[in-house]
Amino acid sequence: MSEKVVDPSNLSIEDLLHEQRKFPPSKEFQSQANINDESIYELAAKDPETYWANWAKELKWSQPWSKVCEWTPPHAKWFLGGKLNASVNCLDRHVENGLGNKTAILWEGEPGDSRTLTYQQLLDEVSRFANGLRKLGIRKGDRIAVYMPMTPEAIIACLATARIGAVHSVVFGGFSAESLSDRIQDASAKLVITGDFGWRRGKKVLLKQAVDEAVVTCPTITNIVVLKRDQKITLADDQCYMVSGRDVWWHELVEGLDSVCEPEEMDSEDMLFTLYTSGTTGKPKGIVHTTGGYMTGVYATTKWVFDLKPDDVFWCTADVGWITGHSYIIYGPLSNAATIVVYEGAPDAPDKGRFWQIVEKYKVTIFYTAPTAIRAFMKWGESWPQKSDLSTLRLLGSVGEPINPEAWMWYHKYIGGEKIPIVDTWWQTETGAIMITPLPGLTTTKPGSATKSFPGISAEVLNEKGEKVEAGGGYVCITKPWPSMLRTIFNDDQRYVDTYWSKWNKETYFPGDGIKKDEEGYFWFLGRVDDVMNVAGHRIGTAEVESALVDHEVVAESAVVGKKHDIKGEAIVAFVIVKEGITPSEELLQELKQHVSKKIGPIARPEDILFTADLPKTRSGKIMRRLLRDVADGKALGDTTTLADPTVVESLRKKYEAIEE
Ligand code: WT7
Repeated sequence: MSEKVVDPSNLSIEDLLHEQRKFPPSKEFQSQANINDESIYELAAKDPETYWANWAKELKWSQPWSKVCEWTPPHAKWFLGGKLNASVNCLDRHVENGLGNKTAILWEGEPGDSRTLTYQQLLDEVSRFANGLRKLGIRKGDRIAVYMPMTPEAIIACLATARIGAVHSVVFGGFSAESLSDRIQDASAKLVITGDFGWRRGKKVLLKQAVDEAVVTCPTITNIVVLKRDQKITLADDQCYMVSGRDVWWHELVEGLDSVCEPEEMDSEDMLFTLYTSGTTGKPKGIVHTTGGYMTGVYATTKWVFDLKPDDVFWCTADVGWITGHSYIIYGPLSNAATIVVYEGAPDAPDKGRFWQIVEKYKVTIFYTAPTAIRAFMKWGESWPQKSDLSTLRLLGSVGEPINPEAWMWYHKYIGGEKIPIVDTWWQTETGAIMITPLPGLTTTKPGSATKSFPGISAEVLNEKGEKVEAGGGYVCITKPWPSMLRTIFNDDQRYVDTYWSKWNKETYFPGDGIKKDEEGYFWFLGRVDDVMNVAGHRIGTAEVESALVDHEVVAESAVVGKKHDIKGEAIVAFVIVKEGITPSEELLQELKQHVSKKIGPIARPEDILFTADLPKTRSGKIMRRLLRDVADGKALGDTTTLADPTVVESLRKKYEAIEE
């Protein structure tokens, strides 16, 4: 880790805790809540293994485990010897329990097309597609890349993969061909499942075209399965070209196939999926999750954090391309036999009331979204939600970044009608499931605080030296293994050890977030302490954007930082030194932005680029990001005494102010 690391324990508690408002759960909510007995925290803390084993017993196992947890720091195994299948837990067991006619998926396409699938129909579709995958030669342990529009088939693809014991690696449809290619190569995937296109703000996102570009450098790919997004729309050959022998339409693959598919019996520790996420180097990490522990974690947290009941209509607005989609669109809700809403498109398509129209149309009861979306809704104004009937809502959730108290209050007032609970849930791709969160029937919430750890999770605050902080600032850490924790990084166990288990000792998990604990033991997240940005709830490494920039022929050197942004939380700012003989221009600036967008995906496109002749560096040559961030934020400059040439920052800041005006 580099210069960005500031020890948050230097902050005094007064720096943050101006928030005094408190919202205890209402009596009505409390009395009906799935968990309303405070003693669970103590019970779980005393004997976490028994507590987690009790959760695991609510799932369906074809063979029971012989040991709950084996902890050889920093490697954990859960429910050893147990056998189960994730798709069986999400589908078959509900159908067996008489829920075949219950609605599983309420799907809304961006143009307004819609589909409903019952649990029986979903099981049939998953089984048929799983048979199709087997027909293509996919076997247990094979990796499959999923690069899909947000249609029911994105979910079907994952569950079918899990059914036959293969491993899915979902890549968000907004990532570029090159990002997709990197992920396919790292996982040595055999197959890509994609769509011809998906809708985003009325425009077609040409997914298959990107796949074709990606697989040129992916020799392990044998086939590409392509969903036809709309049977009535056929794209021209230059937008979607099917290579014969390699590419197969989804509907043709499943034609005539049996809707019964024998599930693969998986060991609890067999891999369920890998999901790539950004770190502090240019290369994303394939986070590995296994079957039994992950399913236990997402099942338990869905039931208690969202207080899920049989009649609920649960809508998580994430894309399946992110961990939130994996855990709280697919595996958590479906293992709980929930009815879920899935929406394909943007919140402002065709107008800024779309989300609220969907809440009204499907009578959504639980709504889970990100602070960046809430801040956008605030900006658009409350007249949009006021046009729709939101009275079915009974619980709201937030995830992805710290929620500012102002956004929390707006959410509470205009979406929650000032009477329903908000759960601000902290977790990560790596943790698999929610870790720090209110329990809506128990926890008095404070706007901006994720409150306390979920029962059975041991979160603490440590300072740089690893000493426990009772009240004040520091780093959040997890001191005991938990079932849904990542097991390793795909093909790079050393990186797993170095990144997460080496800050203090091999037994303490380091998530990379700064945090404060108040006198009542409430957690307040402060954001990342490493070189990772959080742009609109998406994690992007500064190093990834830097290497994309340096990849351009005119760029000699670059340094990337996040600056504060009203809606996105953080926005990307790049400082660029061009090669000798190149003259910076507005055209070049636009070209560089476009280059990053093409290399990584539109989410990584820098908001600002500043050409500079020099970068602030320490005497040992490290770029001082902290100062660059101050420049980007327009703040007074931090300590420059370790700078080789202190004038560099001052001139950078002046320039920056000039372009901002
Ligand atoms: C990082 C994880 C977990 C799903 C979405 C993002 C930040 C996430 C919160 C929250 C404060 C949060 C952290 C974390 N984060 N939720 N409720 N309060 N910060 O998953 O891409 O793995 O990113 O998102 O910084 O480390 P991810």
